[in-house]
Amino acid sequence: MRLVVADGGVLRQILEESHAIWADELTARAYAQYNLAQLRTPWGSRRLCRYALLDDHGRVLTSAKRYALRVRLDGREMDAVGIGAVYTPKAQRGRGHAPAIVNQLVSEAAADGAELAVLFSEIGTSYYERLGFVAVPRRELLLSVVEKAGAPMTLVRSGEARDIPAVASLADAMSRPHRFAVGQNEDYIRYGLSRKRLLSGLLPPGALTVEFFIVEEGISAVAFVILTTAGDDVVLEMCGDRDPAGARVGALLQVLRARTPAEDALKMRGSLPPNWLPPQMRIDAAATSSEILMVKPLKDGVLSRPLAEADVLYWHGDLF
Ligand SMILES: CC(C)(COP(=O)(O)OP(=O)(O)OC[C@H]1O[C@@H](n2cnc3c(N)ncnc32)[C@H](O)[C@@H]1OP(=O)(O)O)[C@@H](O)C(=O)NCCC(=O)NCCS
Repeated sequence: MRLVVADGGVLRQILEESHAIWADELTARAYAQYNLAQLRTPWGSRRLCRYALLDDHGRVLTSAKRYALRVRLDGREMDAVGIGAVYTPKAQRGRGHAPAIVNQLVSEAAADGAELAVLFSEIGTSYYERLGFVAVPRRELLLSVVEKAGAPMTLVRSGEARDIPAVASLADAMSRPHRFAVGQNEDYIRYGLSRKRLLSGLLPPGALTVEFFIVEEGISAVAFVILTTAGDDVVLEMCGDRDPAGARVGALLQVLRARTPAEDALKMRGSLPPNWLPPQMRIDAAATSSEILMVKPLKDGVLSRPLAEADVLYWHGDLF
């Protein structure tokens, strides 16, 4: 058995077979383009790689993506390994190949200095618990914007490339008070936006829209919101506000709401930082998130006490 970077025919096989599970309604061709294009972004080229475990005849036994993440945990920023898209071809299942690749990617990352492994399970918790991962409670919120009479008065414009440094610093400040959050920086914010825009561009026209807005004061962004919309499904991917109360994000969302007064009020799903709710927003419902966040410490002293829901900021836009 050998571990290789999945490219050429190996990658084609994995993409052709996994298309049925993870294509997000992309055609087979668009799904392959979406995967390749993410690897060509500045963040993706350095921090994302898909691997495959092959047998002696070169047959694919299993495969997974490895993300080199930065996370904040207990006041410290550290390297972490993200494991995603674990996929074993149907004919090879039930022989322990998936645990083998997960364990190998995690131990290689630990040897390179990663202190935490992170994944999202789509198959419940027990499978990855056997590999030493523990689930972190996380809920998805259904949010609405409180209606306001009259014209909203905040100046809002589309976010641009020149806003990224200010947006990254807002996102970083939002992550700092929490025991666990993904580390935010300019490349990572650009990657998150590019990934959503690639998906939008590769889907049929209008199937997914990506919106990035900022509130500007002086010459820099003081609040931002990234939203994706597919039909009635509006997702708050991420937001940030220099105002600790979040009043500018709330005002920004009220402006967006005012664009379509004849339509029903804006309802969004997504995550917010624990104990943080802009005064103009309301939580209508909260449900256990379908993507189960699981973590595994890779070094003594890391995660010495379990993470509770109130310890974690994990934006929808951070899902991988
Ligand atoms: C899940 C998967 C990666 C396991 O790969 P594998 O190489 O067969 O790994 P194993 O030999 O350990 O798998 C067998 C175990 O996986 C479990 N499994 C497979 N699919 C599962 C599912 N949807 N929910 C829960 N368990 C599942 C089997 O029940 C079996 O458990 P057992 O060991 O108690 O008998 C593989 O079934 C697969 O590629 N599935 C489709 C993609 C997917 O769902 N990936 C996981 C994303 S988090």
